[in-house]
Amino acid sequence: MAKSGSVLKPRGFGKTSRRDTWWAQPLVTFLVLSLFIVYATWAAFQGDNYHYFNYLSPFYSPELFGSSPHRIFGPKPGWWPTGLPFSPALLILPFPALFRFTCYYYRGAYYKAFWADPPNCAVSEPRKGYTGENGLPLILQNVHRYFMYAALIFLLFLWHDAFKSFWFPDTSQMAYFPKGLGPFPNVPTKFGMGLGTLVLLTNTTLLTFYTISCHSFRHLIGGRKDCISKSKASFACYSCVSNLNARHMNFAWFSLFGVMLADLYVRLCAMGVIHDIRFF
Ligand code: FES
Repeated sequence: MAKSGSVLKPRGFGKTSRRDTWWAQPLVTFLVLSLFIVYATWAAFQGDNYHYFNYLSPFYSPELFGSSPHRIFGPKPGWWPTGLPFSPALLILPFPALFRFTCYYYRGAYYKAFWADPPNCAVSEPRKGYTGENGLPLILQNVHRYFMYAALIFLLFLWHDAFKSFWFPDTSQMAYFPKGLGPFPNVPTKFGMGLGTLVLLTNTTLLTFYTISCHSFRHLIGGRKDCISKSKASFACYSCVSNLNARHMNFAWFSLFGVMLADLYVRLCAMGVIHDIRFF
């Protein structure tokens, strides 16, 4: 036992005075984040089954180059390194991935779960000193605000995908188009709604709440100002974002599951494992 101030604290990795199941939270965090990383990496390298007619997996959006009708610029570019399997996701996923990796909430969570730094609050860590994020490499986490700007741009594409998910190929014309090709750009479409529409819409909504509840977004909206209450509109926006910010942890987890399930749903539809349910 070592004395710290007026409180006696046990010392040594994992030692603590806490009597609750302090290890449960970092363990669940470790398992869930590991599952997500493994699945997202696998899905990103597939380069196939990422679209189903008007549905596009969020892992592949925006599809800058690719083989689906959702692509923006064209097929696989000639400058793609030979030997590296081509996947449209590899071109864009680093941005949302680093947005999440540098998130203030996730940092607190995975520092505990993956690095035991510390394993949990008031639990001894396997290091003698704590330098925080003041030096390399962790000081680079400060780039988070720039990935937040990128995330805002990604949201525009995801909302466009959500809008497209309401427009289905005209079934009277379907026979003329091979399976896997969507209604864009030359296929007649009609308004409708499927389970996939709700999946993509829910995913984009959750990602939007996750992004606008971000600490850096809150700073952008009003946190950087000395006296936000001078403008009623600014104060109202800041208050709204602050309320969302208080729930940032919830949005972080829900949106994580949302984006994974959205990719899985589109993938299973594209593979023919499940059939999309059309409501109308
Ligand atoms: S703090 Fe979590 S996304 Fe910015």
